Amino acid sequence: MRYRIHSRDTALERPSSFTGLCYNARVFALGNLQLKSNLFLSPLAGYTNLPFRLTIRELGGLDLATTDLVNARSLLEKNPKAFKLIETNTEDRPLAVQLFGSVPEEMRDAALFLESIGISSIDINMGCPVRKVCRVGGGSAMMIELDKTSALVKGMVEAVRIPVTAKMRLGWDDQNITAPDLARALQDVGIAAVFIHGRTREQGFSGTVNLAGIRKVVEAVNMPVVGNGDITTPEGAKMMFEETGCAGVSIGRGAFYNPWIFSHTVEYLRTGDLPAEPSFEQRIQVMRRHLDRMIEVFGEEHGCRMFRKVAPWYSKRFGPANAFNKRVVTITSRAEFHEILGNYIQWREQFLNETGELKDQYRPSPLVSSFMEPASARREAIPVPKGPVDVW
Ligand SMILES: Cc1cc2nc3c(=O)[nH]c(=O)nc-3n(C[C@H](O)[C@H](O)[C@H](O)COP(=O)(O)O)c2cc1C
Repeated sequence: MRYRIHSRDTALERPSSFTGLCYNARVFALGNLQLKSNLFLSPLAGYTNLPFRLTIRELGGLDLATTDLVNARSLLEKNPKAFKLIETNTEDRPLAVQLFGSVPEEMRDAALFLESIGISSIDINMGCPVRKVCRVGGGSAMMIELDKTSALVKGMVEAVRIPVTAKMRLGWDDQNITAPDLARALQDVGIAAVFIHGRTREQGFSGTVNLAGIRKVVEAVNMPVVGNGDITTPEGAKMMFEETGCAGVSIGRGAFYNPWIFSHTVEYLRTGDLPAEPSFEQRIQVMRRHLDRMIEVFGEEHGCRMFRKVAPWYSKRFGPANAFNKRVVTITSRAEFHEILGNYIQWREQFLNETGELKDQYRPSPLVSSFMEPASARREAIPVPKGPVDVW
């Protein structure tokens, strides 16, 4: 038995199977890597950089975070852009780097290099539907060629001591749901866990996340499966655990809406009580910290430029925010950002009541994970942020 979820609560230990409830497992093991949380930050290319990871980590509930996907060959060629993607520091631990590529030797050597610089685990991208990645046999294309993919993963697992995981979708399309077979094949070559986004490559980001599909993967293997897709609330995380039997959940866009989603989920799973929504002031404080870190890591001009697409995610929970959104997408300096924010805070006062809260009619509607909405009310999809990729 290679993989175990360790819990101090012995009633929750599941030594022989990973199906069933384990969402309050307090310690999670990924191969030989002990983790303090079974909640994970999903890779979001263009966003899950060091500043974002540190900002989320500071709010609690998260242990293993991951980088954006990185091209294995670019790392081996010491491409400065690839190195910027894996930039980290001692507070950013434990850290997984997500690799993509289809040349077994390159993937193996990149994994060895990452191990040598102290990265905690390697994740392999098998879910990216972007043509540029699939054309060279990486991303979702890996889900079709089981033997080739298993051989590639075997080479990586045998080369490094740190855990190797894979992130995949349910399959290429509804006719080709390969995730259960692929996960089993990868388990046979020693992968430590699989992360499953419960959609097919063809679906892109539309339609509802298929929890039954994730459950099929959980039932096919005897290693941790981490469920992913459309979790925007602690209740959504709980439902993902309960409906799929997954051992952990991974959250991407939900962390934009609520950077506290990890600590809130821990609290909710432990007590059944839903923590209060963060206040406007708390959100502003976190957003400012995030920008400060972007500037530290990327320099003022580039950091501000990158923050143009991040700030509107924070403002989605501010209530009326047109005045902010229109201006923040052109910022070039910290001073300009603070001026825009100051003006916005004043402008927003017209929407507040006597106690300084948003008047009822201006409050953003409560977040609901799409798979929890009644079919009649289902939205097509939660928004996909603009970035280097349009569809993932
Ligand atoms: C802008 C963006 C970038 C993404 N980048 C990656 C990536 O680099 N690697 C990856 O495996 N998945 C990537 N994804 C997919 C997410 O990790 C995740 O599987 C998907 O967004 C569903 O989870 P969510 O609803 O919690 O966001 C990306 C998604 C988005 C929206």
